[in-house]
Amino acid sequence: MKERWWKESVVYQIYPVSFRDTNGDGIGDLRGITSKLDYLKDLGVDVIWVCPIYKSPNHDNGYDISDYCDIMKEFGTMEDFDRMLREIHARGMKLMMDLVLNHTSDEHPWFLESALSKDNPKRDYYIWRKGKNDGPPNNWESYFSGSVWEYDAKTDEYYLHLYSKHQPDLNWENETVIDELHNMVHWWLKKGVDGFRFDAIAHIVKAQGFPDASNPYNTKTVRAYELFSNLEKVHTLLQNLNDKVLYFYDIMTVGETSGLGPEQALDYVGDTRRELNMVFQFEHMFLDAMSAGSGKWDYKPWNLLDLKKVMSLWQTVLHNRGWNANYLNNHDQPRSVSRFGNDGKYRVESAKMLATFIHTLEGTPYIYQGEEIGMTNADFTSIEDYRDVETLNFYQERMLEGMPEEELLQKIKRKSRDNARTPMQWDDSEHGGFTTGTPWIKVNGNYKDINVAKAVKDPDSIYHYYRKLIALRKEHKVIVYGEYKLLLPLHPEIYAYTRTLEEDGLLVLLNFFDEEPVCELPDDIRGKELELLISNYQPQPGESIDKLKLRPYEARVYKFKV
Ligand code: GLC
Ligand code: CA
Repeated sequence: MKERWWKESVVYQIYPVSFRDTNGDGIGDLRGITSKLDYLKDLGVDVIWVCPIYKSPNHDNGYDISDYCDIMKEFGTMEDFDRMLREIHARGMKLMMDLVLNHTSDEHPWFLESALSKDNPKRDYYIWRKGKNDGPPNNWESYFSGSVWEYDAKTDEYYLHLYSKHQPDLNWENETVIDELHNMVHWWLKKGVDGFRFDAIAHIVKAQGFPDASNPYNTKTVRAYELFSNLEKVHTLLQNLNDKVLYFYDIMTVGETSGLGPEQALDYVGDTRRELNMVFQFEHMFLDAMSAGSGKWDYKPWNLLDLKKVMSLWQTVLHNRGWNANYLNNHDQPRSVSRFGNDGKYRVESAKMLATFIHTLEGTPYIYQGEEIGMTNADFTSIEDYRDVETLNFYQERMLEGMPEEELLQKIKRKSRDNARTPMQWDDSEHGGFTTGTPWIKVNGNYKDINVAKAVKDPDSIYHYYRKLIALRKEHKVIVYGEYKLLLPLHPEIYAYTRTLEEDGLLVLLNFFDEEPVCELPDDIRGKELELLISNYQPQPGESIDKLKLRPYEARVYKFKV
């Protein structure tokens, strides 16, 4: 397998608005990021992924860009950016930008012009269509509720937006748009950034003709993912972007691609494809939803066998052919310790167990800010506390449809993106040391107990466990490149696997629940000499490794000779 720096790296994701505020306006900023670089370096991070920092009216916290080559004023200036980049590089780390190529803000000058008249030269930068039978051109539903089409009375046409109406989709059928975007990507590369996370990249091509999606339930709008996700032409466009721009730089790229399985992912990340280094897949993120199609809000309990199935397939299909991006958290998902672990009695144990999982799979591990101290879901009680456009639209839509508020708030509490967006908890001072002003969104009430200062002081903390995991990755190539093999496939509580690279082997044992199941090692591992690399518990005196009783959320990683 080809060795690459981005395979060996650990990525840390920053959601700037909630990371660290330095001027007391309650909003995180670039100087805040720069002030914490030593912290990230100490943790062992190689690459920092910063969510969008471009000029934006902030309807979707920066994912609505109004100028690709300027900095959001709340976050600082281009000088602050240049300094941040310099300081990142000075510490031997890299910066990955988050770039939104699927849409812009409706305040982007391109869109303002495009909306002026049907014959404006920029009209075709976006996707405008005539209505049908007094309604929108088709029945597609937006990710953020309601139709994807917004009516414009002035020109009597509709424009398409897969996300909020303030995020009109760019028209990738237009060569001039493609040129503009290529030039802009090139501009950032010349500045010295080290890579991109391409937001919503699976959606840049839509089924031409914009046919209605099938609508078995006869509802007003329907999910139509297959008509705007992962269409063949996306690949042509990405290859084109590589040939024209990316190819000339030693960078790392990751695409956000919902709605695909590993075989399909190879079209993006296959070694021979010249497209992306890795993609964020979503299959494991839908294990606790009734179905991907019904959307994330309709909860069903997840189970470990499904998680093993999904992850094992990605591990095996991509081995030697592509590369995985491994994550359990990001700014769009609930906190992993609350979702897949136990954020009460076993918060520390389960956070360490989940970290062990993500850091010992084949692929590049991603840490989302606060994950390394075991931050939990938000403790909000009223809709007033929430800020996210997706959540607020959903609330409004369902209230109008008559869903009882209590039920609605329960769904939101479980899945709202704001769970991950409460401010970073730095210490036990007011507002968790995030700001001296009033935070734009409430700090979690548990900040006195869960914060960075406390975690750094405690050698048994989740933070120090992450440091150790990251350090192990640098020491043992098998952690990066070893081949994955699932053990005990049908065990309902234990997730166990090996990784092997030439004569080096790794054995990973994870108890995903709070019971104490017995782990019986399969024959080919029994009798091997096992060296414990890391665990979230002390070994028990007199224990037998062949028949090991695992404690709640226990995780162990052993090294052995194959
Ligand atoms: C991606 C981002 C999300 C954003 C959306 C629209 O899914 O991760 O935060 O709202 O794209 O840009
Ligand atoms: Ca600020």
